[in-house]
Amino acid sequence: MPDYPIQIGDQALTQLTSWLEGASFSQLLVLDDTHTHQHCYPKLVPHLPAHAVHTVPAGEQHKHWQTCMDIWQAMTDLALDRKALVLNLGGGVMGDMGGFAAATYKRGLDFIQIPTTLLAMVDASVGGKLGIDFEGYKNHIGLYREPLGVYIFPPFLGTLPAEEVRSGLAEVIKHHLIADAAAWPQLRHQTDLHALALEPIIRHSVQIKADIVAADPQERGLRKALNFGHTIGHALETLRLASPHPLLHGEAIAVGMIAEAFLSQQRGLLSTEALADVTEYLRTIYPAVSLDEADIDPIIQLAYHDKKNEGGQILCTLLAGIGHAAVNQPIVPADIRAALRYYAQTG
Ligand SMILES: NC(=O)c1ccc[n+]([C@@H]2O[C@H](COP(=O)([O-])OP(=O)(O)OC[C@H]3O[C@@H](n4cnc5c(N)ncnc54)[C@H](O)[C@@H]3O)[C@@H](O)[C@H]2O)c1
Repeated sequence: MPDYPIQIGDQALTQLTSWLEGASFSQLLVLDDTHTHQHCYPKLVPHLPAHAVHTVPAGEQHKHWQTCMDIWQAMTDLALDRKALVLNLGGGVMGDMGGFAAATYKRGLDFIQIPTTLLAMVDASVGGKLGIDFEGYKNHIGLYREPLGVYIFPPFLGTLPAEEVRSGLAEVIKHHLIADAAAWPQLRHQTDLHALALEPIIRHSVQIKADIVAADPQERGLRKALNFGHTIGHALETLRLASPHPLLHGEAIAVGMIAEAFLSQQRGLLSTEALADVTEYLRTIYPAVSLDEADIDPIIQLAYHDKKNEGGQILCTLLAGIGHAAVNQPIVPADIRAALRYYAQTG
């Protein structure tokens, strides 16, 4: 586990209060978005000392430098100094962008992540990756910086729309596929998302993510395991970013995991039965994404911009059996084409 506290459970906000009482900071700023300001901030307020709040528009389409400019302006208007502390209250967008704004203001303010979506609880809030989108490229500008703590309060999920819960589950599924073969059969039979016991799932996923990140904070090797499903998934998500019907992160990653499981099977790394199992489960949980032949070339072009690539080669994380990842696997455009056709055929 990393060397900052990650508190999970109904007591998380009380634990945050205790931590703040013992901490030394000059000012406290809560960053939230319009939805988390409405649904989550009222639950957080009783646990905080005096603070300022700055609310940004909700949604991935606002994860860009103009919103950061507003945040930096608010920090400047509040005359925040280097000892100020920022609390990011929201999903992966607020955590990534609020953390980025904090980490760059006056060369870096400390910040705490208070994730409010399943995706942010199980994935984005842990690991110190911060950033914003740029000119249509996802997370193109950013840096690594760890928070002072992560406080995960599962009751926040009570107001999260069902499709956002399903989106977050994609990262839970990924964690099973790359790191826990023993737990996979149990998850694989959970198809009623309303019946999911979320707190144990969050604890399980955070443990996997935190262990991987602690072993390889700067993504030199092992951490690349977390990118399973993300080479093709991110490219597809980016392609749809500007469309009238953007995909949620998890919906795109679900397509990416099916496509990259197919490539794993093609290379003899994953059995045909395991590929069928993974495909069937993801197809059951996630809505079908219709892909035209015309989408394939733009997805390939976008995959060439993936941050994991080296020397102009697309490097992908595949599965080496369920529960294990094979990182740095070179793939070529024909692979992506075949994998997306496989996805389309399985619908
Ligand atoms: N840093 C990382 O390691 C990492 C990992 C995975 C994903 N990400 C990033 O995370 C982002 C996606 O995160 P997300 O799926 O959480 O999206 P999000 O932050 O946009 O949240 C989804 C929607 O839910 C709303 N919302 C949040 N909490 C709510 C609550 N409790 N009740 C009601 N509404 C609520 C938000 O306002 C938003 O409209 C992407 O930008 C992705 O790049 C980062």
